[in-house]
Amino acid sequence: MSSSLHVRRSPPLRGSCRVPGDKSISHRALLFGALCDGVVEASGLGQGGDNLSTAAALRALGVDVQLQLDEGNVRIAGVGFGGLRAAAEALDCGNSGTTIRLLMGLLAGRPFETEMRGDASLTRRPMGRVAAPLRQMGASIEGRSDPARPGDVYPPLRVRGGALVGIKHELKVASAQLKSALILAALQARGPSELREPARSRDHTERMLGFLGAPITVAAGGEIVVDPTGWNGRLRPARLTIPGDLSSATFLIVAALIVPGSDVVVENVGLNPTRAGALDVLRAMGADLSIEPTGEAMGEPVGRVRARAGTLRGTRVAGELALRAIDEIPALAVAAAAAEGETTFADLAELRIKESDRIAALARELGRAGARATERPDGFVVEGLGGRPPAGGAVVPEHDHRIAMAGAILGLVGADETTVPTADIGTSFPTFAQTLGALGAAIDVR
Ligand code: S3P
Repeated sequence: MSSSLHVRRSPPLRGSCRVPGDKSISHRALLFGALCDGVVEASGLGQGGDNLSTAAALRALGVDVQLQLDEGNVRIAGVGFGGLRAAAEALDCGNSGTTIRLLMGLLAGRPFETEMRGDASLTRRPMGRVAAPLRQMGASIEGRSDPARPGDVYPPLRVRGGALVGIKHELKVASAQLKSALILAALQARGPSELREPARSRDHTERMLGFLGAPITVAAGGEIVVDPTGWNGRLRPARLTIPGDLSSATFLIVAALIVPGSDVVVENVGLNPTRAGALDVLRAMGADLSIEPTGEAMGEPVGRVRARAGTLRGTRVAGELALRAIDEIPALAVAAAAAEGETTFADLAELRIKESDRIAALARELGRAGARATERPDGFVVEGLGGRPPAGGAVVPEHDHRIAMAGAILGLVGADETTVPTADIGTSFPTFAQTLGALGAAIDVR
């Protein structure tokens, strides 16, 4: 039988902790490491199911990837674009949108056919946004169609790489997965490509590829130019040091902010500004946060975040702030539920096509706990409980790790017990319960 977290009203959370390596950066370390001209060693790799899906896919494509999971160290024998080999069977991308979408871009330029599939959640996620521009560049991409959404395409996918030509493309959505797929295709194309996003999504790909010597430039206005003309097609091997995942840290930070008397420090967290909107939102809610930069890793800023409990007040999360906090909305929804007053989340239609429909899932979970949440097409409005304890109950994560963890941290101030199936949490933060437990949370796994 699968296990559940049992969460109860907690005493103050205290102490210092670390989180697993950044999931987004870990995917890129594995993929770009495989494209290097020689052996790449990385430390601090994320240990969740999503990153393991990327590692397994690369192995199936003929890359030697050796993981020492406990330490988060990985050794990748880079083979360059030209060293990838056709996989013997379909690549299983599990729950991971980043794995399937970045691989689409990478395999769009390889002269063989690859099939990719995923779990029930990934199978429902639209891939047309990536497939359309890749087809324009010369790749052939087929997938499952949905009569309700003509023109889009869904996993399982079949990618047959072609001789690609560069593209000048305005992305319809600000999406780092889409942008990164197109950059990987552009590196294999004839002639330059120019990419422009409607707003700036997380830029880990640009930073890491620049660090590894790829022919990529980002203009002050955000326009990305990839020009492989005259390039030998190989990335320079380097040591990769992956910072802790701010998305995982945000659950611990919000837990510390809402459990009265808490004082928690999260060490070694990535603080890339294109990703760190959640910290700005929490500050706007009146959170007692101190953020101390401690250095840089591969062009990514890193620091220490200290969170102390206090009264939070409602705010508005919209526009570029919403984009910079896109993965943290489940944690921020919990802060909003515990706060005084109303919080509006807007410009977040993308949440409907994440690992679950996060707008519907959050409205349902907050409602179950007694915090009124009203759905809108592109977001939701939360009526904060302002100190009243939420009800406990059973969280239904729908294959979504972040809905599961959001339900769990709300349970730390609950009137009665909250239960959460553990299965989905391993996607990004397998040590979630253990880390909260070490800080003193009333949480156990049964
Ligand atoms: C990610 C990009 C974002 C984010 C996802 C990880 C990435 O998705 O929500 O969790 O690593 O590139 P979109 O590109 O769909 O916005």
